Amino acid sequence: MPSEKLSLKVTPRQRAFIDAPEREVLFGGAAGGGKSFGQLIDALLYALKYPGSKQLILRRTYPELEKSLIRVSQTVFPRSVYAYNGSSHVGRFKNGSLIDFGYSASEADVFQYQSAEYDVIRFDELTHFTEFQYVYMLSRLRGVNGYPKQIKSSTNPGGVGHAWVKERFIDPSPPDVPFRGEDGGSRIFLPSKIDDNPFLVRADPEYRERLLALPENERRALLYGDWNLLEGRFFREFRYDEHTVDPFPIEAHWRKYRTLDYGLDRLACLWAALDPDGNVWIYREVCRSDLIISDAARAIRSAEDGRERIYATLAPPDLFARSQESGRSRALIFAENGITLTKTENDRETGWLAVKELLKREGDRPPRLRIFRNCTELIKCLSSIECDPAHPGDVRGEPHRLTHAPDALRGFAIYYARPAPIEETFRRTWTPDQWEDYENADREDRKRLLMRYGRPN
Ligand SMILES: Nc1ncnc2c1ncn2[C@@H]1O[C@H](COP(=O)(O)OP(=O)(O)O)[C@@H](O)[C@H]1O
Ligand SMILES: [Mg+2]
Repeated sequence: MPSEKLSLKVTPRQRAFIDAPEREVLFGGAAGGGKSFGQLIDALLYALKYPGSKQLILRRTYPELEKSLIRVSQTVFPRSVYAYNGSSHVGRFKNGSLIDFGYSASEADVFQYQSAEYDVIRFDELTHFTEFQYVYMLSRLRGVNGYPKQIKSSTNPGGVGHAWVKERFIDPSPPDVPFRGEDGGSRIFLPSKIDDNPFLVRADPEYRERLLALPENERRALLYGDWNLLEGRFFREFRYDEHTVDPFPIEAHWRKYRTLDYGLDRLACLWAALDPDGNVWIYREVCRSDLIISDAARAIRSAEDGRERIYATLAPPDLFARSQESGRSRALIFAENGITLTKTENDRETGWLAVKELLKREGDRPPRLRIFRNCTELIKCLSSIECDPAHPGDVRGEPHRLTHAPDALRGFAIYYARPAPIEETFRRTWTPDQWEDYENADREDRKRLLMRYGRPN
């Protein structure tokens, strides 16, 4: 490679991206930070270093690919060693290395790579892809040449894939700190900010001003590369710095609740303590998958220190429905395993409003709800769960795993905000027929039945 042809300068963040040895690397953050450019330089250096290597660069659609990566690569890659073929979308190097430029507009488009093998796969604007597309492409990373195999991505926050990308790269570890994914592979998130890129700041000083003029959420995402604030988020009032605190010992006399959401797919149990001023502190969470009820009950109890007095364990009404086969409810099985449940309501919109009420700030007062920082799943879910486009007062059910911890919190909030309208002392043991009436009733009728029958024991 004649050195006079390569007079490229890279920013320190681009250097970090180029040097990152992890199997999966995400270069993510502010728009204009030099991420796409960094991808191309990295691709160029790799192609030159490893003769005969194969790389794939992906964008979601062809026009995006053409306008950005292909065009820039043609101006930046030295012509003496590189030629691009516009009909096959392949760039070839003199040393036998190649770069495929591809796109994957629909989910099934990835199957066109079914029989392909690459040394490095690069996603540009990763949040425009689905997790399926990404994971599928991971399987195309192979070959017997002994070259390092990597999947390197760059992206701004936002886009359809925001939540899974955040979960895969941003939430598990602080920036710049490598970690291992659940598949055992190494990963790293390298953040980028617009000020990291002096080339842009010099060439287009107004760019920053234009970003500053955006609405708050886009501004924070595109200017500061903030992954926690985005359009479409359901809890836009949620702020990590305001709603979370470092754990402290909870006073023994504060009233404590558990609130849970249970299904075989996921148990989410939160512990809430009320201080004398009526503030709510979520001080513990247990979120685990694939637990049968007895194991769930054990997981909940063993998270406690044994001296905690729990005032009530709140659970949604569906746990009280009796199963067709056994005639027993899951609440009953919890009770047999030492955890007596108290039924909350499943009025979703009212429940979410109650959560929002607790998150709200009034003037300089801190919000009434605060979460210990070790409750990472709840924090992650509150900061990424989105609005349901069809029902603006509700959260989106997808990705489903983001719903469990917020559902548990909702059960607490509605219970706390709206104490049971019926006299607590008026309790009866219901007959099976009364239960059947109740199971078949809609919400309004159920309230009426509760008045008539009294709360069930
Ligand atoms: N190392 C560099 N040398 C020269 N120009 C650069 C460099 N890095 C980025 N740029 C330029 O800065 C601008 C923004 O970079 P880009 O990679 O498109 O940002 P991002 O993908 O993070 O939004 C582009 O015009 C790009 O060509
Ligand atoms: Mg870019």
